Amino acid sequence: MTAHAPGRTARQYLMCEPSHYTVSYEINPWMDRTRHTDVDLAVRQWRTLRDTFLDLGHTVETIDPLPGLPDMVYAANGATVVDGVVYSAKFRYPERQPEGPAYQKWFADRGWVTHTAEQTNEGEGDLLVVGDLILAGTGFRTSRAAHAELQELVGRPVISLELVDPHYYHLDTALTVLSSDAAAPQVAYYPPAFSPGSRAVLAQLFPEAVVATADDAAALGLNAVSDGENVVVAPAATHFAGALRERGYTPVPVDTSELLKGGGGAKCCTLELRR
Ligand code: ARG
Repeated sequence: MTAHAPGRTARQYLMCEPSHYTVSYEINPWMDRTRHTDVDLAVRQWRTLRDTFLDLGHTVETIDPLPGLPDMVYAANGATVVDGVVYSAKFRYPERQPEGPAYQKWFADRGWVTHTAEQTNEGEGDLLVVGDLILAGTGFRTSRAAHAELQELVGRPVISLELVDPHYYHLDTALTVLSSDAAAPQVAYYPPAFSPGSRAVLAQLFPEAVVATADDAAALGLNAVSDGENVVVAPAATHFAGALRERGYTPVPVDTSELLKGGGGAKCCTLELRR
């Protein structure tokens, strides 16, 4: 067991303020149209999350939120950026489909090389870079064909993982990349969210992974953002925070409860820009 986290590296993130936040459709089991949402609270929580990243010494860029796209706050779904190449998102549900081109335009306008995806994928919600590998979720949103498309595009091994519990419909709701250091890649995950074969693959690749409890997962604790040392995490994921401390990481609790009504937490709001 590693007693020391590999150490913080400065990150660049893209985020989208939830100015138009609401739950007006239901595409995952967390969403309930009949429940009241508070856009001011969502914005306050989001700003606290952004300020936390800034205080940790990271850079945050923002994309303008578009009216009629309440889920645009979940910037992680907007694209996947590996080695300076932008693989666009192609959303499964019509309600979110305009977000793909909106995020791609943000990148293209700033001179990034973008690749228009042919296959259905929901960005970093399902496509997580860990060391030299990319872990790729499927089962609810992103297609296996997209995993192959991304592998051809960026030339890194893409490992397909089958998600089986609809509450954990994106890979980033069931697995956190703690360290992307190629020499010491590390993850945390909730095994019951994965098929038996995928669990075996994770156990083989990450024998010392942090294993989260059902309560950690239900608080969307795994939807956390790590810089290799500090882990921004839902305050309710108390067991997970303890397990992180044991490994030498520093849990940084940030409450994103209002955004949980849409089925997302800290990681969902955060897209990493890898130049
Ligand atoms: N309401 C959004 C959806 O169901 C939530 C997305 C959360 N994002 C994430 N990266 N897990 O698509």
